[in-house]
Amino acid sequence: MDRFTLSRRAFFAGSAAALCTRPTWADTPNTLTARKASVQLAPEDYPQTEVWSYDGTLPGQTIRVPQGGRLTRRLVNNLDVPTSVHWHGIRIDNAMDGVAGLTQDAVPPGESFDYDFSLPDAGTYWYHAHTNSMEQVARGLAGALIVEEPDAPDVDRDEVLMLDDWLINPEDGQFYDDFDQPMSLSHGGRMGNLNGTNGQYQLELPARKGERLRLRLINAANARIFALRLQGLTGWTMALDGMPLEAPEPVMGEIILAPAQRVDLIVDVTAEEGETAAILRFDDDDQWRGQVAFPVTGTHSRTARGIPAPLPPNPNTDLPDLTEARRLDMVMEGGAMGRLETASYQGRDMGFRELMMQGQFWSLAGQVGMPDAPFADLDRGEVVRMRIENNTVFAHAMHLHGMHFREVRAGGDLGPLRDTILSIPNESLEIAFAADNPGKWLFHCHMLGHAKSGMTTWINVA
Ligand code: C2O
Ligand code: CU
Repeated sequence: MDRFTLSRRAFFAGSAAALCTRPTWADTPNTLTARKASVQLAPEDYPQTEVWSYDGTLPGQTIRVPQGGRLTRRLVNNLDVPTSVHWHGIRIDNAMDGVAGLTQDAVPPGESFDYDFSLPDAGTYWYHAHTNSMEQVARGLAGALIVEEPDAPDVDRDEVLMLDDWLINPEDGQFYDDFDQPMSLSHGGRMGNLNGTNGQYQLELPARKGERLRLRLINAANARIFALRLQGLTGWTMALDGMPLEAPEPVMGEIILAPAQRVDLIVDVTAEEGETAAILRFDDDDQWRGQVAFPVTGTHSRTARGIPAPLPPNPNTDLPDLTEARRLDMVMEGGAMGRLETASYQGRDMGFRELMMQGQFWSLAGQVGMPDAPFADLDRGEVVRMRIENNTVFAHAMHLHGMHFREVRAGGDLGPLRDTILSIPNESLEIAFAADNPGKWLFHCHMLGHAKSGMTTWINVA
């Protein structure tokens, strides 16, 4: 791949302080219009980028809804291609899940679809296209969805930070449009050359020493795993994938955020006036991948507040009883340097070469791409233990729609609730969940190129 990487210097050229405007749920319109727009993603000496957006901005407007409330949005498709919206991480009514070809038909150009659902859980979620999502999310169709607790935690500010990773041709400032590139599909996925936050390549949020911030980080990248380090900030992890931890965990070392994962932090600004606090981003090769900067412009009057109180738990999040759990095995194979020999694709067994010619590189439990029959047929309420065995040399961010799960750790302890889990090359992990949400739910890799080239399946809960 002969690709220009924007220089580190370019990241710093022409930086502008960002004003953070946050609409409240009451004044956001009731439509979500998917349409083209031009935005300045790259540094200012580069042309604007034509993106596919919700309502003309990248990311789309942050939607804020009170916990227990309803969200109604009419998706209006003003693009030239069909689309649909998935509300990632919401324990949602299946008919509103937005998966074209499974829970609804894709919305043709010029038409619309009404989404209307309730939001049982507070937390940090997001919405994104779920029709040809590899391309549509890469082009910008994503935004944050915040479900607010009835009583907000004691913080001075609440900021959404949507981390992204764009692949932009520096010659014309446009996205590379080679979405079928076999090299990226069969390797780590579509990696960008320009990292940004909230649609800007270098986001700056002025802060004051002593200020306490709630930061809601969302990894909206197509494939990039971020390792985050705090500088001039003392923080606690409060929630993962929207769901509160029982107790805040002090941030020590790195926070790993795989594609689609979220982390809620509460941080105290400890850097001095005139210094810059930051969230530094590195990739899994320890390359610097940008930052969110907090220039410290003053000192806050409040004295130190100590460890924050935990966020209130969401309803129906009891630990599942694993004694009678049904066991499922999900073996992942394929990719470059993989061991995949044959797998079933569109009802036929194919060898790896033949699959490659179809643009398919990965299998889940011996199947490539969406099988007609579900990977598992579950009874409502059934408890499942699913072993996920990664027989590839790549990492995968495995996402289950409609329900959160917990990792079953060594010794049988259950980890925190998540909707997306990072699976490491050549390792196995196990997840457990109660299949308490009826419907057809996708299970796929959120490296969206992997999902497109084989790593997508589904379960049925009836
Ligand atoms: Cu965030 Cu199936 O997706
Ligand atoms: Cu993957």
